[in-house]
Amino acid sequence: MSTILKLDNITKLYPGVTALDDVSLSFEQGEVHAIMGENGAGKSTLIKTIGGAIQPNSGTITIGENSFDHLTPSLSSENGIGVIYQEFNLVPSLSVSENVCLGNKLGHKFYKDRKQMNTETRKVLEELGLDIDPDMMVSLLSTGQQQMVEIAKSMIKNCKVLIMDEPTASLSSAETENLLKMVNTLKQKGVTILYISHRLEEVFEISDRISIMRDGHYIKTVNTKDTSRRELIKLMVGRDIGDEYPKRQTKPEKEVVLEVKGLYGQGDENVSFQLHKGEVLGVAGLVGAGRTEMAKMIYGYLKKDKGEIYVRGEKKDIRIPAEAIASGIGLIPEDRKREGAFLEYGIDWNIPIMMIKKASNGLFVNRKKTAEIVDKYIKELSIATPSAQQLVRNLSGGNQQKVVVAKTLATEADILIMDEPTRGIDVGAKQEIYNLINDLVAQGKSVLMISSEMEELMGMADRIMVFYEGEVTGFVDRQHFEQNHIMALASGIREAA
Ligand SMILES: Nc1ncnc2c1ncn2[C@@H]1O[C@H](COP(=O)(O)OP(=O)(O)OP(=O)(O)O)[C@@H](O)[C@H]1O
Ligand SMILES: [Mg+2]
Repeated sequence: MSTILKLDNITKLYPGVTALDDVSLSFEQGEVHAIMGENGAGKSTLIKTIGGAIQPNSGTITIGENSFDHLTPSLSSENGIGVIYQEFNLVPSLSVSENVCLGNKLGHKFYKDRKQMNTETRKVLEELGLDIDPDMMVSLLSTGQQQMVEIAKSMIKNCKVLIMDEPTASLSSAETENLLKMVNTLKQKGVTILYISHRLEEVFEISDRISIMRDGHYIKTVNTKDTSRRELIKLMVGRDIGDEYPKRQTKPEKEVVLEVKGLYGQGDENVSFQLHKGEVLGVAGLVGAGRTEMAKMIYGYLKKDKGEIYVRGEKKDIRIPAEAIASGIGLIPEDRKREGAFLEYGIDWNIPIMMIKKASNGLFVNRKKTAEIVDKYIKELSIATPSAQQLVRNLSGGNQQKVVVAKTLATEADILIMDEPTRGIDVGAKQEIYNLINDLVAQGKSVLMISSEMEELMGMADRIMVFYEGEVTGFVDRQHFEQNHIMALASGIREAA
């Protein structure tokens, strides 16, 4: 094997944060090299350095024979590096082929016309075994397909190293499978893959080696086949965390706090269920099964055409989120970028934003009180930040998610709807969120937990409600949790009557 990419003594400083501290790492040709570490460990900063999106304060990057003290995006791309960032860089209003060919000179040969672009794009898509129409507008594609277009975009430039930053964080399980297959195909072609993910299963499935980072430091590189889940977690978190899913001491009570009857939305959602006091009701289903729509209808984000909602036995007509909050319902939304956080504002502004009424006397906001609450959540959720005033956009992806979680918790709602609450969150912080959920139900609060991670649902829920195409196909009690059974319900196979 030969080294294709090498980093020596890379340091990157931000005000109050050492994002990368003297990091040295090397990558071999044709390997799948995973990079793991807690939220804020410096993973994205590392790959932004390689992609030329940011410049390090010191250190050297060597690609093949060429060494650089910093790169630019075009320099990086000319040297055979392709990067798929945590946030996509596609232009939604352009077609697939326009996106794939955008900014690609093909060795100074510009594209003559649309026809040529389509031909070149089709060629690359075929090589990758993808069935996507080059003329399709990108905004009409699913997240998984957009991800594939990103890959095609790098492959048309003949990249030698393809870097993916949490590529599966928002993919369905079928899309994830496709992506993992694609990684293998590219590896067969001799492409080196740098793969960042918080999902241990997939890292074990596809990687040859794993490098671990913690607090801006490089910790260690291990051979995937010689390590274990437990060792990795320990290397990432720096300590043994014990049980991934902490045991809960309390049981749900009889009292029904939320009842949904025959909820219909714009599609054919037909959903009825009861949520009990102190219960964690899991919601399983494939991506697109209608779980997020249900959450948004209950919370008043989406209009419902039909159906009734009862909160503690009282019928509520919730049309806007403010009415949901007033009824004690909180929502942790799935999409933190669009719905969750105000990126251009500080953490101290984001967390108390929905509880301002409680912290004010109608005229003035009690700053001392809100500051206390902000500090409490920064501590409880271990939000990695130099200060409470830090802008949310400057936080790492996982820490942004924690701010969104904190914002909803701060409303002191006693019915919490959590839509993929641990997406993009590292193992250690996941456990903190699980502990928090246990504390919440111990205080008599109730949680509706939507998750695409079956293990997480089976680890945390008292009951699981399964969705298929906007309908509930079954409820499963904790003592009957069994992955195959739940998967069958999620694929539309109903309980035998
Ligand atoms: N533009 C910026 N300004 C200030 N600080 C930043 C900026 N970008 C990143 N940081 C900080 O650098 C550190 C490393 O962030 P980075 O995004 O690399 O983490 P990560 O390992 O990718 O985490 P995650 O798993 O949450 O995506 C974090 O403490 C983050 O807050
Ligand atoms: Mg990141």
